[in-house]
Amino acid sequence: MSVHVYGSSEELAEAAAREFAAKAEEAIEERGRFAVVLAGGSTPESTYQILARDYSDRIAWSKVYVFFGDERAVPPHHEDSNLKMASELLLDHVPVGNVHRIRGELPPEEAAEAYEEELRTFFQTEDVPRFDLILLGLGADGHTASLFPWTPALEVQDRWVVANPVPRLDTTRITLTVPVINAALAVYFLVEGEDKAEAVREVLEGDADPRAYPAKLIQPPGGPEWMLDRSAASLLSDLYRGGSRTA
Ligand code: 6PG
Repeated sequence: MSVHVYGSSEELAEAAAREFAAKAEEAIEERGRFAVVLAGGSTPESTYQILARDYSDRIAWSKVYVFFGDERAVPPHHEDSNLKMASELLLDHVPVGNVHRIRGELPPEEAAEAYEEELRTFFQTEDVPRFDLILLGLGADGHTASLFPWTPALEVQDRWVVANPVPRLDTTRITLTVPVINAALAVYFLVEGEDKAEAVREVLEGDADPRAYPAKLIQPPGGPEWMLDRSAASLLSDLYRGGSRTA
């Protein structure tokens, strides 16, 4: 695991776009395609805009296959849809090989089963799928994707995608499970803002129950990469920051 601290959210977004492009080039060179999971929420928006603006001719987009870490139980054009956000900022502007959306308009259990089937078909495997890169955000409560504190999805080991009831939000979300995220070749957390500093400190340095801070469950081989702006990193101990590359 490594922690990279950037001076601003803009520098974080530029760095995340560079990392995305580097991972895409590596995967396409080695495996002929780049299977990437996009994060929802607002943090990755600037990164997606930079990719659309500055990388349209610097990535072999036709070999990029896009998936989502989670989706709200809403139709594709709903303002809460992660697909809508990613399409408006990135996917409508670059010629990706294919977009594998989670069908939030279906009943959540059905959407989860359909997405798991879509992963089986794409990866042609019964083993857990291995994405080339998974981008994740972090909630102030320590959730990531739609793996919220004390929710059933945290315990699931035998499914790749589940419908996860989230009482705090009075809704059900569809999410990749921990085993799928932890099987990825690379996992990057993109986190910005003072409001995430406590969660960042707890996940990286605290000893709370991982069910209280589900991002602690994300432990792919070699650990995830943390890309933080200075505000989100502000409560980390110097020791930790000492190990980071501060841009
Ligand atoms: C979502 C994401 C979720 C998000 C965090 C952080 O669907 O919203 O999967 O896990 O990454 O809630 O959201 P912000 O980036 O908006 O702070």
